Amino acid sequence: MNTTKLNLTFFTVVFATLFLFFSTNNFSNPSGKDWKVPGIAKKIKNPIPSTQLSIKLGEKIYAQSCVICHGESGIGDGPAGKYLGKKVTDLTSKLVQSQKDGVLYYKITRGRAPMPAFNTILKDKERWAVINYVRSLKSK
Ligand code: HEC
Repeated sequence: MNTTKLNLTFFTVVFATLFLFFSTNNFSNPSGKDWKVPGIAKKIKNPIPSTQLSIKLGEKIYAQSCVICHGESGIGDGPAGKYLGKKVTDLTSKLVQSQKDGVLYYKITRGRAPMPAFNTILKDKERWAVINYVRSLKSK
C-alpha cells in the first residue's frame, strides 16, 4: 500500500468513527420521548411525602442545581440553555408531568448529556424533594 492509500484509509476510519460517535451521541437526539428507562423505574415509589417542607427544600435545590438550564418557572428558559445545543425540556409540560416519580428520579439520577447525572451531586432525599417541587410547577 502506498502512503496516499494509507492516508485515505486512515481518514476514512477516523471520519467513520467521528460520524458514528456524533450520530449516536445524545446531542443529536431530539430530547424527551426517546429516553429509555428500565421498567423497574416506574415502580419506585417516592419515599418523601410531598409536604410543604419537602417542596421548600426542593425549591432550594432547584434554584441551586436546575434553574440555570430549566429556568425560574421550569419551562426550559434558563440562561445556560442557549449554549447547550439541545432544547432544555419544559418541566411544566405534559411530557414531564405525566411521568411517574420513579421515572423522573431515574432521569435526574442518571442524567443525559448535556444534563448532568445528579447521583453524586445530590443526595437521594434531595432528588426526591426536587421532584416534589417540580410537581408543584405545573400548577403555577
Ligand atoms: C446543564 C443544564 C441542565 C441542568 C443543570 C439540569 N438539566 Fe434537566 N435537562 C436538561 C436538558 C438539556 C434536558 C433534555 C435532555 C434530553 O432529553 O436528552 C433535561 C431533561 C430533564 C428531565 C427529563 C425530561 C424528559 O425528557 O422526560 C428532567 C425531569 C429534568 N431535566 C430535571 C432536572 C432537574 C430536577 C434538575 C436539577 C436537579 C436538572 N434537570 C438540571 C438540562 C439540564
